[in-house]
Parts: sequence; structure tokens; C-alpha cells
Amino acid sequence: MLTADNLRPLLAQALGETNLPFPGKQSGKVRDWYALPGLEGRRLLVTTDRLSAFDRVLACVPYKGQVLNQLAAWWFEQTADVIPNHALSIPDPNALVARDATPFPVEVIVRGYITGVTSTALWYRYSLGERDIYGYTFPDGLRKNEILPQPIITPTTKGGPTGHDERLTCAEVTERGLLDRPTWDQIQAAALAIFRRGQAVAQKAGLILVDTKYEFGRAPDGRVLLIDEVHTPDSSRFWKADTYPARLAAGEEPENFDKEFVRLAYAEKGYRGDGAPPAVPGDLWLAASSRYIAIYEMLTGQDFVPGAYPAEPRLIQNLRAAGLL
Ligand SMILES: Nc1ncnc2c1ncn2[C@@H]1O[C@H](COP(=O)(O)OP(=O)(O)OP(=O)(O)O)[C@@H](O)[C@H]1O
Ligand SMILES: [Mg+2]
Repeated sequence: MLTADNLRPLLAQALGETNLPFPGKQSGKVRDWYALPGLEGRRLLVTTDRLSAFDRVLACVPYKGQVLNQLAAWWFEQTADVIPNHALSIPDPNALVARDATPFPVEVIVRGYITGVTSTALWYRYSLGERDIYGYTFPDGLRKNEILPQPIITPTTKGGPTGHDERLTCAEVTERGLLDRPTWDQIQAAALAIFRRGQAVAQKAGLILVDTKYEFGRAPDGRVLLIDEVHTPDSSRFWKADTYPARLAAGEEPENFDKEFVRLAYAEKGYRGDGAPPAVPGDLWLAASSRYIAIYEMLTGQDFVPGAYPAEPRLIQNLRAAGLL
């Protein structure tokens, strides 16, 4: 069990960026990726410790990259019978060899509850008085964090490393020509099916999978693949199941094990993503690290085995051992 005192010295060592000896490095907010010469159709995805929220990088959090990479790999296995995915191998705790796909320009968010404080979140829009949101009509009188009658899909455009994601209705995805009809139908069905699987698996771990974001892409052989990450605390909200009903009834926030508590800490300072973010105490990032590790252990039922810091020399060693370097 890693305590805050164990974690504090690692704040300075967290993996902020990689510079691996591969060509074609590109970076998203959280991942760096590289071409793998000689391995056509594959890419190396390295999940760093960067923490992004409100569409920007706010800090580097020890072990966050490892948790995301290993937890996504675990979920890819749990969902492989529902939809094929891009994962091929895990040469290092922070690295994934993935099938290179052409990402579709739509992020597919599935929501089982009405919640969230960012400008694209369902609860935030509802709390502003909006009742027609993402093409769905909501009744008056809903409470924050309440379950929806059934999970709904609320797509956004893919904003990329700098741009903000723009809200879409399901109809607009095809109307704007972002996807053709058969592909969008296939993706919506897959998204709902993975979400149902995720909720069932989370429930066994005493957790509620509240909502999540999926990315899909087209593989060179034409198949639709689940890419990027799946059901991690970056892409999803998780609440503790046993305390949820009493907390909802009392009007309290559910116990969460995801990035939401970071968003809430900023929202308390009145920040929702516009302009420069306010300063927050460093202990927030230690708490974030503990939560990422806790959710990994709860979901997988396995002990988290921390990888060595500094991470970059270890990555190089492991990539050599895997014959990739
Ligand atoms: N198999 C794949 N083939 C091609 N691109 C992929 C694949 N898997 C993931 N990607 C893309 O790689 C990038 C991963 O980087 P990262 O998650 O840091 O991106 P981001 O979208 O900027 O960040 P955030 O997830 O915080 O919005 C994304 O743009 C994602 O669409
Ligand atoms: Mg991403």
C-alpha cells in the first residue's frame, strides 16, 4: 500500500514526457506515440503521468500512466468478445503496442446517470435550465447524480490536443457527414454493449460505471476497432455502489474514484475550463495518485505492482527486451 509519504517524493519524478529513440513522435494530452519501423500497421502508445481535465494538462501524477495502461489492457480483455480492439501487447507497464487505426472524428460518450460539472456535462447543462440536451428531452425535477431510465449516447467532435470538444446529437453525426450511417449504427450498438459489460463487471467490484467515453477507428482491413483506452478513471466516472443510495438521498456527492474529484476541486474555485486554471494544493495530486491505484485494485482484484521510477530508462530496457528496439 503506497501512502502519501511514499508518493510525495515521486511527484518530481512522474513521467511528464517521453523521448524514446523511435521516429514520428506525436503527443496527445496524456499519451505519446511513435511509429514502429519494420512493424507496419502498429504503433507504440506510451501513457504518461500527465493529468488532463477541462481539455488541458494540469499536473503529472505518479503511477497514473501505469494504472491507465494496465487497466485499459485489462478492460480490453474483458470486452474483446463484444468488439475487437487495438491492443496487441504490453511491453512495459506504461506502454502498449497497438494496431494503427484511422480514428473516427467522433468521441462516443455513454451516460447512465445525470452528472458532471464541465461545460459539456449533462448535469451542468440541465442545471442551467436546459431541457433539450444532446437531442434528448429531459423532464423537470431531476436531481444531480440520478440514474437515467436507460444509458444514452451523447457524442462530441474530437477536439484534438488543443481544441475543445463540441457537443453533437446522434443525428448530427451523420447529417454533418462525420460518419456514414451503417458505421454510426454499428458504433452506437457497440458502445451500448461495451457499456453494459462495463457496468456488469464494475458491479461485481462494488462500483457503478456512471459514464464513459469511447473512441473507435477503422483498421486497414476495414474492421471497426475500439481504440485509445477503455473504462479507465480518465475516460469514465466510477462511484462506490454501496454508499450511493444514501448519499443521493442526502444530496451528497457519491464517493468517486475517478478524475471527478479533481474537476470538483477546480469547480469549487469557480473554474469550469475557461481561461487560466487556478492554483490548487500539491496534495490534490497525491490524492489523485492514490485514487488511480485504488480503482485499479478494486476493478481488477489484483495488487498494483508499482513500476520503477524514473520511467524512461526502464521503458527503454523493456522495449529492448521485447525486441522493439
Ligand atoms: N489504435 C490507434 N490508432 C490510431 N490512433 C489512436 C489509436 N489509439 C489511440 N489513438 C489516438 O491517439 C491519441 C492518444 O493520445 P491522448 O489520449 O493523449 O489524446 P487526447 O485526446 O489529446 O487526450 P484526452 O484523452 O485527454 O482527450 C488520441 O488522439 C487517440 O485518438
Ligand atoms: Mg485520449
